[in-house]
Amino acid sequence: MTTNTVTKTPATLHIRKLSPHIGAEATGVDLRDINTEEAHLLNQAVLDNVCMVIRDQHLTPEEFESAASIFGEVMDQDHPRYSFPGMPGIKRYSNFDNDIEGNRMKGSGHWHTDGSFREQPPKFVLLYAVEIPDNGGETEVVNMRAGYQSLPEETRRKLEPMKTAHVRASSSSRTDVGKNNLAIMAQGDQVPNFHLLVRTIEGAAEKSLYFSPPRVEYIAGMDPEASQDLLHNILDKVIRPEFIYTHKWRLGDIFMWDNRASLHRAVYNYDWNQHRLMYHATILGERPQ
Ligand code: OGA
Ligand code: MN
Repeated sequence: MTTNTVTKTPATLHIRKLSPHIGAEATGVDLRDINTEEAHLLNQAVLDNVCMVIRDQHLTPEEFESAASIFGEVMDQDHPRYSFPGMPGIKRYSNFDNDIEGNRMKGSGHWHTDGSFREQPPKFVLLYAVEIPDNGGETEVVNMRAGYQSLPEETRRKLEPMKTAHVRASSSSRTDVGKNNLAIMAQGDQVPNFHLLVRTIEGAAEKSLYFSPPRVEYIAGMDPEASQDLLHNILDKVIRPEFIYTHKWRLGDIFMWDNRASLHRAVYNYDWNQHRLMYHATILGERPQ
């Protein structure tokens, strides 16, 4: 397993792999005071390992915004009502939040990738743990690059030319797409963005599957139901235990993933009366090609 070390007083950045297919851990770095070499190593570790935890950060929302911008341009949030005042890119992400109808939100327990309905979806997503429950509340990430490579060549050839029409809330979604997304769709001003089902990623050698099941309205040339059948069939094949990293949160963790090469989900196995509070940022990505 590879190890990268940069000397700097007082701390020393150390990055280690957490499993053969997915996950890295970075220690000995303070994102409030980081040099170019460290930033480069962290960025590369996310590309190589699909997701990474950076331990022991102490950040205000403003400092979290600066930390996120180390990795690129911070995008505006999907739902501005949850952003910090004056910081449209930084979401205060709490399990005590309500949706527009006033009901507690429990939205991301299914496999998805963030912002896929956008023309230029996020490259990376960062979460910073401010309050966590005593037990549980993990985040899971699955490597869709490894998933794609694991498919038979014949299947890959069939999938490669396909294009998906992504919207905020698919009419044929098999999981909850959330009341906020439905309300936005109901306003009727959403044009689908078409993305390649198999995409390249800047800086990565291998192609990746790229789709968010609850947001695919249809695959070009197929009806919505048949599209969902096909996508769920792919998921059954590629979501394998060895491609999954389960992040057990510690306070002060920044956990981030390559949102172009993975799916993620929240695990709702914790005491719902305990507060789980995170800050959330997305980094602008390239148009999938
Ligand atoms: C997200 C997300 C998962 C979690 O922030 O985009 O899906 O564990 N989070 O809260
Ligand atoms: Mn998400």
